[in-house]
Amino acid sequence: MVKGGKPLCGEVTVSGAKNAAVAIIPAAILVDGVCTIENVPNIKDVQVIVEILRYMGAEITYLDNYTLQIDSRNIRRDTEPHELMRKMRASYYLIGALLGRFCKANVTMPGGCDFGTRPIDQHIKGFEALGAVVRQDSGIIIAEAEKLVGTNIYLDTVSVGATINVILAATMAEGTTTIENVAKEPHIVDLANFLNAMGAKIKGAGTDVIRITGTKNLKGGTYSIIPDQIEAGTFMVAAAATGGNVLVKNIIPKHMESVSAKLIEVGAKVTEYDDSIRVEGTKPVRGVKIKTLPYPGFPTDMQPQIVALLSVAEGSSIVTEGVWDSRFQYVGELVRMGANIHVEGKTAFITGVEHLEGAPVRATDLRGGAGVIIAGLMAEGVTEITDLKHVDRGYEKIEEKFKALGADICRVSE
Ligand code: EPU
Repeated sequence: MVKGGKPLCGEVTVSGAKNAAVAIIPAAILVDGVCTIENVPNIKDVQVIVEILRYMGAEITYLDNYTLQIDSRNIRRDTEPHELMRKMRASYYLIGALLGRFCKANVTMPGGCDFGTRPIDQHIKGFEALGAVVRQDSGIIIAEAEKLVGTNIYLDTVSVGATINVILAATMAEGTTTIENVAKEPHIVDLANFLNAMGAKIKGAGTDVIRITGTKNLKGGTYSIIPDQIEAGTFMVAAAATGGNVLVKNIIPKHMESVSAKLIEVGAKVTEYDDSIRVEGTKPVRGVKIKTLPYPGFPTDMQPQIVALLSVAEGSSIVTEGVWDSRFQYVGELVRMGANIHVEGKTAFITGVEHLEGAPVRATDLRGGAGVIIAGLMAEGVTEITDLKHVDRGYEKIEEKFKALGADICRVSE
């Protein structure tokens, strides 16, 4: 429940990156030793992937709330828990990791947020190029290889998931793998840095071409996950949306450039420091045009939050989704709160209104949920948000962090 109208003020510390954690934890399957992973966010998706690995025989200990110790040496390939796998998108990283370690994987088609069709043809193309035979049987993907051999792979679509999955499978393949047209998101660099810290030979992460020289021996070690770029962006947008003044801490400002640039364009003041950013909002904000793109473009995972902000901007805005077929499910919830937004295909046309009004709304998906929370923080009156389970998949204690910034927000029930 959110009672809107209070400018957010103060400091907030960002957690470790969800989309890095859900790749790095299964990557530990490749490691013949103990991995200590720091700055792990305390979110539902991490709990699920930890549960999956434990079920399969990994020994996983929480050294503290944010530090995981993973020993996957005794993991067994034939015990995949398909029910658990269905709960999250990133369970498909188990295909790359298990294929890399055992040359065989048996994984359920993934779940996650509903953005229309979410094909994995590019993951499969990569596995096949490395020598695997991949088939689907009753919603289960079975990938098998006698051995994996490095090769050249060109991805037809820039895909975060395919890039990560092919890195996982190729890390221990024979010879060298070159992957072209890869995604460049910070969590891809983070995964490569983690694997390299364990002894892998991966070059070029963060550019369009990644080269992997296969190695058989990955040893344990300690690694700290990067801060969550999307959680940081969510607080930055919330600060601007409420006309507040918030220092967002524990971040890598370089990762935030596209979001910072848009916030400056709408009229907010953004000041960068070494590992934090201050956002000072002015009201009203100005309408802008945005197209979401793969990194370093404006992130699709920030689209609902910025649309919530633009719903009260002066003038009109046009937001085009450039990554997913369908990512405007949450717009109906903003409209219930008084927003004037019209969606045509992959574009939202927004005519700014003077204010939003509190209403009962739903978190339709993870980032859509963040968008309606921001709308609630701006709105007059009380907004009740249901289906928070989507939000909990990717944000750690979101209501507590907003409350510490002065928001009138509380969780009524689990
Ligand atoms: N695509 C294909 N074929 C493939 C793979 C992808 O056509 O084999 C298409 C998709 O349909 C989509 C585009 O390529 O249109 C990009 O998809 P991508 O594979 O990059 O997305 P993903 O790996 O499934 C990750 C994040 C998403 C984020 C996208 C884009 C994780 C676990 N998920 O998904 O995060 O939206 O990249 O940046 O890393 C979120 O955190 O809220 C979230 C949904």
